[in-house]
Amino acid sequence: MKFFVDTADIAEIRELQDAGLIDGVTTNPSLVLKANRPIKELLKEICEVTDGPVSGEVASTEFDGMMREGKILADIAPNIVIKLPLTLDGLKACKHFTSDGLKTNVTLCFSANQALLAAKAGATYISPFVGRLDDMNIDGMELISDIRRIYDNYGFETEILAASIRTPNHVREAALLGADVATVPPATLKSLVKHPLTDNGLKAFVADWAKTGQSIG
Ligand code: E4P
Repeated sequence: MKFFVDTADIAEIRELQDAGLIDGVTTNPSLVLKANRPIKELLKEICEVTDGPVSGEVASTEFDGMMREGKILADIAPNIVIKLPLTLDGLKACKHFTSDGLKTNVTLCFSANQALLAAKAGATYISPFVGRLDDMNIDGMELISDIRRIYDNYGFETEILAASIRTPNHVREAALLGADVATVPPATLKSLVKHPLTDNGLKAFVADWAKTGQSIG
């Protein structure tokens, strides 16, 4: 499974990229608001930090506007993925961008039928929002499982990008269910390395090594 980091914070992206932990980046309008920088400049800098796929979302909700903005975003760098909402206009734009050879991420997916439509529109990625479904007492992971089964039934190549990931357990479950990618907030991504038994074990090894009086080099 690939990991994307779900942030527009350059320092966080750089740290995770340098640690070799990420394969790409996803952003959305709320994350751009948090970064408080002009979107084109921001995406350009992110694309200089990573050569993995970087999702930049259109702001328009109408087909013509999505086409105009998507082209502007795609011109920023070759690794830009045009993020489009799961609406009729978004699917139509997805189909056009796919025919032009551009990469797309269809976002705000909350049902298996929406995911089926996105695959038929040729989306590169579909983003089912696990956490936001869980927030409503609907099992977000069931959606990942349904989409995996449907895509496998028909051999769709659209990658399942598990989004709105909130906990390490979401990551584990998405991996078990065969999601192709998980986009994870930086803090959750870093927390995956943590285990108290690793910390305790390392502490004991360090102490015993000191008692040997040896040095490796
Ligand atoms: C996906 O691409 C979105 O940016 C993101 O995962 C949404 O997560 P949230 O529900 O925590 O805002």
